[in-house]
Amino acid sequence: MQHWIYYDSKTGNVDRFVHKLEACTGWSIRRISEDLSISQPGHLITFTTGRGEVPAVTDKFMRQNHNLIQSVSASGNKNWGMNYGRAADTVAAIYQVPVLFKFELSGTGADVQKFINKINEYHEHHSNKRWQHSQEVDTPE
Ligand SMILES: Cc1cc2nc3c(=O)[nH]c(=O)nc-3n(C[C@H](O)[C@H](O)[C@H](O)COP(=O)(O)O)c2cc1C
Repeated sequence: MQHWIYYDSKTGNVDRFVHKLEACTGWSIRRISEDLSISQPGHLITFTTGRGEVPAVTDKFMRQNHNLIQSVSASGNKNWGMNYGRAADTVAAIYQVPVLFKFELSGTGADVQKFINKINEYHEHHSNKRWQHSQEVDTPE
């Protein structure tokens, strides 16, 4: 199944992660900018900056496009302790989307595979929910 991945990257780690992902999956990958307006639903991958902060570009992108964002993931570094990957938690809390995954720096091959599995699980779960809902709606009393 084809998926859209939107990402933010400053020093290149998330960029490297998504290019490994693209090579494994062929999914559509798009780097975000402050004024990007999207039309396809998809998943956001960002990074953590400052002391557990959301990058400014991610913040502006989400203000404009949050209705089409299905989950958030973040790169970080475990040296930051409690603030590890915290940008994902903040975005999730503001926009009520699930945190799908956190990974360090540009992620390992195993991280890329785990992310793919999580995206697939997300879509299985959500299509089942839709299916269950349509069954409930369609089933006569
Ligand atoms: C100034 C600065 C602040 C950072 N703050 C955090 C942080 O609070 N939590 C964290 O998990 N990682 C933090 N990091 C690590 C970055 O999130 C990590 O290097 C990430 O892979 C950067 O992604 P990018 O290379 O795609 O920009 C920080 C890095 C820098 C340079």
